Amino acid sequence: MSNIINDNNTVILAIESSCDETSAAVVIDGRDVRSNVIFSQIDIHKVYGGVVPEIASRSHIEKINQVVREALNEAHMTLDEIDAIAVTYGPGLVGPLLVGVSEAKAIASAKKKPLVGVHHIKGHICANYIEHPELEPPYLCLVVSGGHTHLVHVADYTQYEVLARTRDDAAGEAFDKVARAIGLPYPGGVQIDRLAREGDPHAIDFPKAHVDEAPLDFSFSGLKSAVLNYLNQCRMTGQEYDRANLAASFQKAVVDVLVEHTMEAAGCLEQISTVTLAGGVASNSALRTAMEKACAEQGLTFYKPSPIYCTDNAAMIGAAGYYEFMAGVRHGSDLNAIPNLPLE
Ligand code: KG4
Ligand code: ZN
Repeated sequence: MSNIINDNNTVILAIESSCDETSAAVVIDGRDVRSNVIFSQIDIHKVYGGVVPEIASRSHIEKINQVVREALNEAHMTLDEIDAIAVTYGPGLVGPLLVGVSEAKAIASAKKKPLVGVHHIKGHICANYIEHPELEPPYLCLVVSGGHTHLVHVADYTQYEVLARTRDDAAGEAFDKVARAIGLPYPGGVQIDRLAREGDPHAIDFPKAHVDEAPLDFSFSGLKSAVLNYLNQCRMTGQEYDRANLAASFQKAVVDVLVEHTMEAAGCLEQISTVTLAGGVASNSALRTAMEKACAEQGLTFYKPSPIYCTDNAAMIGAAGYYEFMAGVRHGSDLNAIPNLPLE
């Protein structure tokens, strides 16, 4: 792609602050990322074993101006050259969301630029456009993050239909809770991914939950309880357990269900020949490999973002924001953070 920007290009400044990453990006026409600055708070929250909302809000406030400035500098842009500001306004933690929303509203008002509020999950889904210029709707997307597990039919760039969701824990939440139970530091998903490479995924047979009345839906709380029961039993009987085997077996139970349900959904949607992955858990190496294999076997085209675009980042908000902007979405100075913003 050429580096030159002309009047036909749409330049989006995007801001993301829904959880524990303060991020700003400059994205051209939804796919060309000129900068994607991410300040991760992981080191700040690690000592508490999870995200502390008040501390997250304070850290976002401290970093947001610097992150926005760096994103503009890296892209060699000024605020005057931006066509619109896109910002995550939900779902997420209310305090952290408010920091990004307030920053975006302040810039939009001072520079008289259009403001586009973006749904965080739509951002995760649109992350795939950044590195796959040939990807176009319709397609099926499995969104697996710390707070969400959704199978989404992406009918068009701004048209999303949720086909299945989790009934209890999100996939990432299950990874983080199991990691904590076996003494791995926060955030546990990536730690389990690493440890599992040294273990046998067939060592322990963990259950795969099935929701009778909604067979595409997910449920991970039973699996989490099964892991905790296994650990308790080992403790009570003074039996040593192999952490790598446990990590690999747990991971396999999650990945098998995610892939099976995605293939079932793809089989139900006749017009769908493409499957994508999105969200923090989409960077899981076992999930990426298993989904790639299953799609190849079913003759489906498969796309996944690079790990940096799987976990929270503003470039994905710039991609989603572009398509919302082109569809005419505009928000006013009354835009508010909505912690439980629904996808539909
Ligand atoms: O999308 P994300 O950055 O934030 C939310 O919107 O929730 O996802 C974070 C989640 C965490 O639960 C983290 O443990 C998980 O993604 N995660 C992983 C991996 N990398 C991040 N889970 C499994 N394997 C990984 N490699
Ligand atoms: Zn996220």
